[in-house]
Amino acid sequence: MTNNIYFIANWKMYGNIESIKTIKNVISLSKKRSLKNVKIIYCPPYTLLSEFVKKTKKSSISVGAQNCHQHSSFGSFTGSINSLMVKNIGCEYIILGHSENRKIGDTDKVINTKIRSALKANLKIIFCIGETLKEKKNKQTKKILKNQIIKGLKGIKNINNIIISYEPVWSIGTGLIPKIDDLKKKIIFIKKVVNNYFQPKKTKILYGGSVNPKNVKSLKQIKQINGFLVGGASQNDKKFIDIIQKSIN
Ligand code: PGA
Repeated sequence: MTNNIYFIANWKMYGNIESIKTIKNVISLSKKRSLKNVKIIYCPPYTLLSEFVKKTKKSSISVGAQNCHQHSSFGSFTGSINSLMVKNIGCEYIILGHSENRKIGDTDKVINTKIRSALKANLKIIFCIGETLKEKKNKQTKKILKNQIIKGLKGIKNINNIIISYEPVWSIGTGLIPKIDDLKKKIIFIKKVVNNYFQPKKTKILYGGSVNPKNVKSLKQIKQINGFLVGGASQNDKKFIDIIQKSIN
């Protein structure tokens, strides 16, 4: 992967067919020369993937899914979608390990299986890790992060197609972000763990959790961060554009 700054729009369970119109301005922005090192990835709900792929076809914007089933081929799993189907519809990326899915049953082992299947399907992975408030208060953050990395990536030889997104659970959707100094330390720690255990060519680490146009200027001071995973603010084109512009200027 190149030295891009990543902006992932995680739309979660929001959006309908009309909402696609709102990405028009982001598509125009992505064509500007000043954005040549910027990689924008839209991750809408499954129902909109195909429309997003069509709409972004003539731009540098990529599309990703927000999750998939752990089974790597077709099967009798009502209501589920596997990584091959995600790839087949034209997605290049997939978010795995998001805390909202960990909360409803995705264990490290399940996430590991999903990552393997997505890699096999030739998808690039946005692998989310992060501690809960309780774990932070109990000073377990480093232990938790290390565990999630080692277990989630267990046995994976080529991790060059994996981008890690550090998302403290207590920061998601709350308006709270970590102190800049602390965040920098955590990012450096994550990089060290990944480098020690997996020797990637280059580790890419994003930050996610309440990123908005107001706090992005302070977040971007951390040079070790390779971009942002944006939830709520990414559903509003003006806010998302503002975040991108403030990060690169
Ligand atoms: P948020 O979500 O930006 O709304 O906090 C981030 C995420 O869950 O990926």
